[in-house]
Formats: sequence, C-alpha cells, structure tokens
Amino acid sequence: MEAKLTAIGIFAPEKVIDNHYFEKIVDTNDEWIRSRTGIITRHYAGEDEFTSDLAQKAIENMAAEYHLQLDDVDFILVATVTHDQIMPSMACQLQYRLNMPKAAALDISAACGGFAYGLVLAKGLINSGMYRKILVVGAETLSKVTDFTDRTSCILFGDGAGVVLIEAAEKGNIGASVAGADGSGGQDLYLSTQNTWINGEEIKANNKIVQNGRKVFKWAVSQMALQFNILLEKEGLSVEDIDWFVPHSANMRIIEAICKQVGLPIEKTLESLSTYGNTSSASIPLALYEGLRAGKVKKGDRVMMLGFGGGLTYAGAIVQWA
Ligand code: UT7
Repeated sequence: MEAKLTAIGIFAPEKVIDNHYFEKIVDTNDEWIRSRTGIITRHYAGEDEFTSDLAQKAIENMAAEYHLQLDDVDFILVATVTHDQIMPSMACQLQYRLNMPKAAALDISAACGGFAYGLVLAKGLINSGMYRKILVVGAETLSKVTDFTDRTSCILFGDGAGVVLIEAAEKGNIGASVAGADGSGGQDLYLSTQNTWINGEEIKANNKIVQNGRKVFKWAVSQMALQFNILLEKEGLSVEDIDWFVPHSANMRIIEAICKQVGLPIEKTLESLSTYGNTSSASIPLALYEGLRAGKVKKGDRVMMLGFGGGLTYAGAIVQWA
C-alpha cells in the first residue's frame, strides 16, 4: 500500500494581534516588522485555551468538512513545542478526547520542522504496511512561551493548529521525502525549562523561546535551497514541475531568498506568516489550507512542503494533490 494525503483542517484562536500591539511593549514599529518579516497579524490563544484545544478544533473542523469517522484512526502523531504538559503527551490527550480507541499516540519534537517530520513518518508507517489511517497534527500556542521583552523574537510568533489525514491507498500521492538534522545549531534556537547546556553553551531556564535570528536565517536559506533541489532530484522533476512550494512560514525574506536560489517564482509559494505569524509546526498546514481555500491549489498540482526549525531540524515531501 501507498500513503495518500486525503484531508486537511485548521484552527486559529479568535484574538488577532496586529503589529502596533508591540509598539507599546518594545522598541519596534509596524513598518520594521512588515518589511523585515512580512508579518501583519498573528492570533493568540486565550488564557484558558491550550495547544490541545487548538489541535482538537482543527481535527474536528477537518472531520466535519470531509465527513470523516475518526474511530478507526490507527495512529496520531502530534508535532508541537508547546505541549499543555510534558506528560501525558498531546497525542494521548487527543486520542482520548476525540475517541480514537485503536490509535497509537506519539508526540514529535522537531520544532518548526515537526509537521513535515510527521508527514515523512506517516508515509513510512503506511508504506511499511503497519498502519492504515494516520493523523498528522502541527499545533502551537507560542504566545505562551514568547519573551515579550525581546523585540527580535516577540514580534514573530503566533498560535494555531493544522492537521492532515494520511491513508493507505493502492495509489498514493506522497512522493519523495527528506528528513534531517544539524544538532550543532541547537543553541541558536531553544526553549528550556531547566538550567542546562547545549553544545557546551550554558542555557538559563526561562520557558521562553530564545533565538539567534541571523544565524537561523542564514542556515535556513542555504539548507532549504539544498533540500529543495534534493527533493526535485529524488522525484526526477525540475523546478518548473513544482506548482506550489509551501516552506515553513518564518519570514517572507527567507522564502524569497530560497526562491531566488532555486529559481522558483515567488508567486508559486504559499505562506501563512502574513496572517498568522510564525506558528512553528502549524505553519505549513495553515498555508496549505489557505491556498486551497483561495482556489490556488488544484487537483493534480505538485506541492512541495519543506519544514525547518529548532534542533536544528528539516524535513519535507512532494505531494500530488488529490
Ligand atoms: O521558525 C523557526 C526558524 N526561525 C527563523 O527562521 C527565524 C530566522 N530569523 C529571522 O526571521 C530574522 O533574523 C529576524 C526577523 C529574527 C530578525 O531580522 P533581521 O533582518 O535578521 O534583523 P537583525 O537581527 O539582523 O537586526 C537588524 C537590526 C538590529 O539593529 P542594529 O544592530 O542594526 O542597530 C536589531 O537590533 O534590527 C534591529 N531589530 C529591530 N528593530 C526594530 C531587531 N528586531 C527589531 C524589531 N524592531 N522588532
């Protein structure tokens, strides 16, 4: 059997935060944020709204839109860095709440690369014949771990959730995939709950995201351009064969730089950052869903998804939209 992506759903909390919000708390302005990142708004969860709630609503939205039964889901993978709690896992919480009695449940810790890692894992689990119906979720409440004293990072993050259903089929639609890591950059993007060390560098626990933006930016552009070309080669395609490129939505300038390096017109990209900010593992499904809703992505289109983030991690796959 082959792996087929058959459904998608998203959810974002109601509260919308515009760039002017940050002018009151740090030395920044709307013009800087728009021109350096492309972000215009982001959504924040309420105090009593957690990542599991966002994920649950994304799954319920998908089930309603596609008229799906969930009781025969046999695996749920949840990518997040903002679990409600470290134990139990988010996947277990959702398995119980959404009544999926047969489902194995596992969280993925690969930061903004997490959703794409989930796609690659789901493809492998289905192609091996072990599982038939898998949910891959990317969900975050980054507003709860944002350092609102750091102007270089607080303006970036937002909350949201997305999910896709991957099923076993005679003829699948998930083609070439990549997944990898570069742990040497671990200290450039972290979220720590303990005083500890990463790569010999002392890390203070503050339960907030800390990022060396410039270093991650440079790494992301060169690594994503490389992985883009590796995916093309694996699938035997050229850049003209890609209808839609859906990279992790961190910064519009990163997306533009990748496109320039690989020779892809920027009009062929889908992003979620302008509306939702950087939502880490949720950013790819949010962008894809919005692309579908806008009537851009059509049946038969070749879509390349490529995630990257803390770890450092990256993963991606080419999907032919069914
Ligand atoms: O999702 C996981 C992966 N993460 C990423 O991919 C994020 C990658 N990095 C980025 O997106 C960008 O590096 C940032 C948006 C974080 C920063 O943009 P940048 O263009 O790389 O800015 P920079 O760090 O080079 O800083 C340029 C200047 C600095 O001032 P000086 O030293 O030139 O005087 C910063 O202090 O911009 C200043 N600056 C700001 N100014 C106004 C930094 N943040 C702000 C701000 N408002 N919010």
